[in-house]
Amino acid sequence: VKPLQGRVVVITGASAGIGAATARAAAVAGASVVVAARRLDRLRSLVADIESAGGHARAVEADVADADALTRLMDTAVATFGRIDVCVCNAGIGYHGPFDSTPTAVTRRLVDVNVMGTFHTARAAIAVMKRQASGHLIVVSSIVGRRGIEGSAVYAATKAAQIAFVESLRAEYAGTLIRASVVLPVSTATEFHEAIARNFGHMVRGLGPKQSAEHVARAIVGCMVRPRPEVYPYPLARGLSIVNAVAPGLTDRVVRRFRRERVVSTS
Ligand SMILES: NC(=O)c1ccc[n+]([C@@H]2O[C@H](COP(=O)([O-])OP(=O)(O)OC[C@H]3O[C@@H](n4cnc5c(N)ncnc54)[C@H](OP(=O)(O)O)[C@@H]3O)[C@@H](O)[C@H]2O)c1
Repeated sequence: VKPLQGRVVVITGASAGIGAATARAAAVAGASVVVAARRLDRLRSLVADIESAGGHARAVEADVADADALTRLMDTAVATFGRIDVCVCNAGIGYHGPFDSTPTAVTRRLVDVNVMGTFHTARAAIAVMKRQASGHLIVVSSIVGRRGIEGSAVYAATKAAQIAFVESLRAEYAGTLIRASVVLPVSTATEFHEAIARNFGHMVRGLGPKQSAEHVARAIVGCMVRPRPEVYPYPLARGLSIVNAVAPGLTDRVVRRFRRERVVSTS
């Protein structure tokens, strides 16, 4: 028997990167997957791939900044597969630049997608999970939510908000069968930087370690099989969190090597 056989998994931001890789990995592990994002054409070809490999999947167009769209997503998941066992709040966007020159509109967009998008998704999923009296919310944050780096002030703050949110949910649902986990990837090879160029017109080069989307997806599926409070797909990143808690001033110097750089303006 496959580890996720009979389970239903909803994933936002599944048209690319970590979300798409997680959908494929969850389907291989036996789950029925409901994939959501704004680019429906991409979701449809992902569904076709999963189905041609013998899996079960459904595509739903949803912008996470739109609360009603998330309610429709969860309704469609329940109508199609009967329940929601896991919801992965993965949709997110980045930005790189000095805080004092970050336009307010950019700040607001990052908060709308990364923070409000997580709240909307979680709220809609938890409504279903409470009716079932069980469920697992997995939020894809980032190591920069634990330890901010230069040029990422707003983005890192949105990722920190997700971590505090999950910690609070765990306390709120302690003793029930509703679980919440947070994933803290390091730099990952996805379309994240292309999306920054598309959204905000600049290219960013990341320094420091980089992992594949498939590696992060395996860690997320592992957390579905065996729920844990926090997942560090790159294990050394847990050490960075600990060192930062004990010696934040020293860590200011360490994280300089993990900074990102704007390489060329595409605008
Ligand atoms: N790549 C990294 O280095 C890295 C490191 C740590 C954490 N993360 C986190 O991992 C998550 C996934 O990012 P990724 O690296 O896989 O980036 P990606 O390849 O750019 O994928 C981002 C996904 O989010 C979706 N998305 C963006 N805005 C959306 C919106 N308003 N509504 C619904 N979906 C939206 C995109 O789909 P549509 O455009 O089709 O809507 C896409 O499917 C993010 O939360 C990110 O913060 C990434």
